[in-house]
Amino acid sequence: MEIGRRAFLKSLIGALSVPVWYPSRASGAAFVCNPFVQNVGESQATIVWATEEVATCTVGVSVNGMPSGSAQGVVQKFLPADTGLQLPYYQHKALLTGLEPGTEYSYEVIVDGQRRAVGDGLRFRTAGSGRFSFLAFGDSGWGGLEQRTLAELMLRENPSFILHLGDLAYMQGTFQEFQSRYFAVYQDVMQRVPFFPCLGNHEYMTQNGFPHVALHDVPVPEDIPHEDRGRYYSFDWGNVHFVALDSNAPLVQAVQESGPMLQWLENDLRNTQKFWKIVYFHHPPYASGPNQGDGLSELVRHHVVPILERYHVSLVLSGHEHSYQRSYALAGQEIVPDGEGTVYVTSGGGGARLYRCDSSRYGNIRSSEHHYLKVEVDEARLTLCSIGTSGNEIDRLDLTPPPTISDGGVVNAASSLPRFAPGTLISIYGRNLAPETQHSAEVPLPREVLGVSVTADGEPLPLLYVSPMHLNAQLPFELRQGAAVQVRTPNGTYDTSIPILSRSAPGIFVVVHQNGAPVSDESPARPGEFLTVYATGLGAVSGPIVCGSQTPDNPLLTTKADVKVELAGTLLDPAFAGLAPGRIGLYQVDFQVPGQLGGGQHTLSLVVDLSASQAVSLQIAID
Ligand SMILES: [Fe+2]
Repeated sequence: MEIGRRAFLKSLIGALSVPVWYPSRASGAAFVCNPFVQNVGESQATIVWATEEVATCTVGVSVNGMPSGSAQGVVQKFLPADTGLQLPYYQHKALLTGLEPGTEYSYEVIVDGQRRAVGDGLRFRTAGSGRFSFLAFGDSGWGGLEQRTLAELMLRENPSFILHLGDLAYMQGTFQEFQSRYFAVYQDVMQRVPFFPCLGNHEYMTQNGFPHVALHDVPVPEDIPHEDRGRYYSFDWGNVHFVALDSNAPLVQAVQESGPMLQWLENDLRNTQKFWKIVYFHHPPYASGPNQGDGLSELVRHHVVPILERYHVSLVLSGHEHSYQRSYALAGQEIVPDGEGTVYVTSGGGGARLYRCDSSRYGNIRSSEHHYLKVEVDEARLTLCSIGTSGNEIDRLDLTPPPTISDGGVVNAASSLPRFAPGTLISIYGRNLAPETQHSAEVPLPREVLGVSVTADGEPLPLLYVSPMHLNAQLPFELRQGAAVQVRTPNGTYDTSIPILSRSAPGIFVVVHQNGAPVSDESPARPGEFLTVYATGLGAVSGPIVCGSQTPDNPLLTTKADVKVELAGTLLDPAFAGLAPGRIGLYQVDFQVPGQLGGGQHTLSLVVDLSASQAVSLQIAID
């Protein structure tokens, strides 16, 4: 008890001590906020800093000592009346563009023509592919010993970036508090590692979070209204889609006044194709402790969680409760098997005084300790560790979501119908199917990509394309019956089946001109013109062909079935119907548009023996 009291007093003394946040002084305008990196992506980064006097500044970047670009700082002056500071605050932001992914850049800030050195070197690394790690924590802005101890530990971690889960600067998120309890504490980390923060309730205590928004530079999706920019956003890093929400005023407005944030969230999650989806905001939906009855947590639980579950968000990070808490995997507020559902982690132990954490039916991992989270993402495996002030591991969680195929998710790749023939190109839709997106470039096609394979009756299929939500493969020409289909990934398997095969199950991909350009409203076909239909599911051909290999051009492999082109109700004999030379698993049907055909939209389909493809529309123009 006594130790706890002493720790609290020590923490309080740290919080009340006079901050040292005027970092470096040289000739010319001095920094009142040292340079730090923001909004780093694959090809851009923003450098932000502040001077106490007006100054003309630029940022230069180099790779391995070779200069590779520069950007002018755009200055914004904040008056003492706006900031509560004693002097004007000149904030500079330099947007660096045209950067290379996965590359380490050194940078320097030039103030009024003079190079300014800070610390032991300024550098950052752009986003790229492959494994990476990030840190996360909330409720840090106390200025005490524990916050500074954790900041020291973070310096050794070398993460790609840091998510801040809100309550960055107690008590009221003022400019002064941001300087002394945020920038002063993390400046050595921030000069290399971008923070992607969300707003806590304490940030809203000053001008509705104005200092927080003004002092950061975060991604700005175009579909976010101007007044909400800087408060919620999303970004990609590797194979993860991150979403930062604002569980304060924008959430209340979304629920009570049809504000835009939740509709934006729905659209944002619907559009991402990334394997992992991680969403973070300040108020936890399921944490327990002094804030358990918080009205904003209740709004999150009722209005945000259903959206997150609908789009299979794997991990949700929050703060607000000053402790560490982890839920079971949950769906519909019920516990589901590991690997399914959403895991909710509360990480509010970044530095503020700790709260008790109570038992909860939603999870049994909890600890009232100061800590931060370290999350490592390695393809389809995610490992989360909670790390305490002595570098101790409080908790560890591995997420390895297994593959799932949607109901009716195996279809003919061209028609999107469950109709198959020997040699058909198929699409498989679901989730957790592959850790990344990759088109197969090698010939013959590989039977395993990124640890992912698809088998039909145990036989691995050639793979054209893999991605988290969509696979493309080719069925064997030898297949005559329906087949048991299995998707295998490093995280597990999913079994399904396809029905009995037809001799033919045609599906049309596209109709093109002889120059390869698709026929469209903008590029219509003309009477008498020769066109090519690219298709799949036309069945057996005149000679041997190995599934997944390139089609020869000599001899040409023609279809065994009788193929007709039905255009505007008339059956036409094609000039050629067979496998497309030089392509893999693709059929082509060449035909001539009748010279007497009138202009306008006409329907076109392939009729192969007794099977018809889907109908597509063909625009015909008369000169
Ligand atoms: Fe909070």
